[in-house]
This record gives sequence, structure tokens and C-alpha cells, in this order.
Amino acid sequence: MSDVKAAAAAALAKGLEGVIGGQTAVCSIEQDKLIYRGYEIHDLAEHATFEQVAFLLLEGHKPTDAELARFKAELIAERALHPIVTTYLESVGGWIASGRAVPMDVVRTSISLLGHTDPDAQDNSAAANLRKAKRLTAKIPTIIGHMQNVIDGKGIVGRELGGDPTLSHAANLLYMMTGRKPSADEAHVLDVSLILYAEHEFNASTFTTRVIAGTLSDMHGAVTGGVAALKGPLHGGANEMAMEMLKEIFRDVGEAGIGTSQVDDWMQKAFDTKRKLMGFGHRVYKNGDHRAGILFNLGKSMAAKIDAASQPTFGGLRAPKWFDLGAQVQQIMLTKKNIHPNVDFPCGMTYFTMRIPVPQYTPIFVAARITGWAAHISEQHADNRLIRPLSIYTGAAERKW
Ligand code: COA
Repeated sequence: MSDVKAAAAAALAKGLEGVIGGQTAVCSIEQDKLIYRGYEIHDLAEHATFEQVAFLLLEGHKPTDAELARFKAELIAERALHPIVTTYLESVGGWIASGRAVPMDVVRTSISLLGHTDPDAQDNSAAANLRKAKRLTAKIPTIIGHMQNVIDGKGIVGRELGGDPTLSHAANLLYMMTGRKPSADEAHVLDVSLILYAEHEFNASTFTTRVIAGTLSDMHGAVTGGVAALKGPLHGGANEMAMEMLKEIFRDVGEAGIGTSQVDDWMQKAFDTKRKLMGFGHRVYKNGDHRAGILFNLGKSMAAKIDAASQPTFGGLRAPKWFDLGAQVQQIMLTKKNIHPNVDFPCGMTYFTMRIPVPQYTPIFVAARITGWAAHISEQHADNRLIRPLSIYTGAAERKW
């Protein structure tokens, strides 16, 4: 074994745990803090809007009022989709219905198609990357909205303009999905969830985008790879799986079982079979994910404010009860396993309360994370070196053909 290989073998970390993969000025994750370009996440969740945070991540500083107005106008002007993407979305409904295509695949393919429609597609300069980042940020909610209209068999909402130009980014996303203007509370909670999801340092999907950008490939290609990485249940797909898991517990214990030892018994069975509980655990955070508590509290208070008659239900179980069940599951995980929830756990219950169909939870994560991905892709292009680690060979010894 060469010296280089021997050193690499000594440093092997499965899943690259603990390995420093590069430098970034975009985000810092510490056990007690999550920071976007110097601003702490609780501060941003309480005082900023998604558009402000998107500007911060993409343009690098807190916007002035004039800069924010310009940025919002740029996003609104870029919301509509090229007909080639809308035609694709209108043709894919049958494959979604049959399960051959899931919404995350449709988002991935749509972003890939958007590359063909972008005049800057092959230009990796900082200015072109910023233009492409804004277009992608503006258009991904439109993809999600149009796709949901197709799934629901409804006419496309806001085809010409990509929704309603008077609505904020978050409110317009909900409007395009449903054709209904959301309440101020719903728009605010979605907005905060987008802020929480916008950026997270060298997570699997962001690292994927940086590896792709590191070959000097283009932004649409890198983002397409990022979507594929985010889809997996160990990463962004966990928000959908977390809600499905809560439904499974509810189906097994019933409403009367919530708050009783039946939930403990369900969890014990999961522990006994070494089942991974979705929305729990984190590679970096060992004392809890800063974002989870913010979203749990917001979602819970939104659910409590909706009058009983108009609360969404599943199997007759109303929105607030999902938070009771979620709180109990969190408590059992903490007491028995010392494992904290991550942001995907409260996201499931919160998006359920907003009547968002479960298969759109991870696409909405994309609508937020596009800002972080784009910031990292631009940072990688600006100071590039090919990302190319080593491996340790475990195959057959050398032999004659
Ligand atoms: N449910 C049950 N046990 C869990 C767990 C979970 N969600 N997350 C971690 N653990 C346990 C593992 O079983 C393992 O126990 P062991 O040492 O007795 O075998 C230990 O904690 C370490 O887990 P590991 O999977 O090696 O940690 P990781 O750093 O490789 O993985 C995650 C991190 C996020 C992939 C992992 O926690 C997970 O799969 N969580 C569920 C999916 C999820 O919510 N993903 C979103 C992340 S933001």
C-alpha cells in the first residue's frame, strides 16, 4: 500500500463522519447555534422573511429596503414557467397516479428541463450563477403548484404569471397549489419553515451540489443532483416519512391510545426490531436540532387556532391531536434512546395542519434549500478545486485474466 493510501486507511471515517470537506462562508453549524452568514436561526425565524433570507444567502448580506424591493420584483418576474416545463407537468399526472413518478422525481426532471430554457445555462460566472439562482428560486414553487393542480385534476393556477404577483413567496406557493389564498397564519408558518430549511452547511445534498460544481459543471446539473440526494428518507425525505410514521402509530393505537402506554409499546416494538424512526437523530447535532423546536411550537399554535370544524383530519384525528401524539413520541425517544427530533419531525405535523399533501413535503424543502444550494455552488465555482477523495480497496487480490 502506498504511503498516501496507508494514511487514508488510517483516517477512514464511514460516511465521512467528522471529516472536514471544505470551507464555507455561507453557514455554520455548532451544537448550540445555527448561523446563516452571521445571523442566528432563532433571530432569522422571528424577525426575517424568506425573501430576506434568500437575499442574504444569495447576495451575501442583509438587504436594505431598496435591495429587498428589487429582489422581490426580480423573483416575481421570474415565477412563470416556460411552456416546455408546463407541458411536461401536464403530461406526467398519469405516472404520478400510478406511482411510477413521485413528486420529487418530477421536481428533479423539471429543474433539469429548466436548464434548457435558461439563457445562462452554460455560464458559470458569478453574475450568471446569481441570475440562475434567482430564476430557480422563483420557479420551483411554480413547478410544485402546477404539479399539484395536475394531481388534483384541476386547471393550472396562475399559468401566465406563476401565481399572484401580490402574494409573498410562501403565500404564493400555497395559493398555486390550491387556488385558495392562504390565511396570514398559514403563510407565516410556511415562510418560517422555508427559512429553517433554506441552508444547512455540508449536508448530503449540498455536498452533492458542491461535488458536481467542483467538476465545473453547471448550476442546473448540480441542483438536479441535489434534489436526488435530498429525496432519500435519511435526508429530506424524512419529513414525509415522519408523517407517515405518525399515521401508522395512530392506525395501530387509535385516538384513545394517544397519551397512554400503547404508544410506548409501539415504540418499544420499533426499538426491538432496530427500526429507524423518521424525523429523529442527526449526524452533527447531538443535543437537538435548533430548528425542530421552532417549527413544533409554530405548527402546534397554528393547529390550536384553527376552529374545530375546519381542522384537517386523517381518519377523524384532528390537527392538534397530531401534536399531542408527536410530543409523546418525542418524549419516549428522548427518555429511552436519548435521541432528539430533527426539523423534519415537526414539519410533518405542521404541513399536515396546512393541508399540504404528504408527497409535496420534500418538494417544498427543495423550494427553500435551492437558496442554500445555489450559494454553495457559486462559492465552489468562485474558489474551485476538484473534490475527489480516496477509497480503500476491499475487492479480490490481483489475479490473471
Ligand atoms: N431512530 C432510531 N435509532 C436511531 C435513529 C433513529 N432515527 N437515529 C440514530 N439512531 C441510532 C442508530 O440506530 C445507532 O444506534 P447503534 O449505535 O446502537 O447502532 C445510533 O443512533 C447512531 O445512528 P447512525 O445511523 O449511525 O447515525 P448517522 O449519523 O449515520 O445518521 C441519520 C444520522 C440522520 C441518518 C439518522 O439519525 C437517521 O437515519 N435518522 C432518521 C432519518 C431522518 O430523520 N433524517 C433526517 C435528518 S435531518
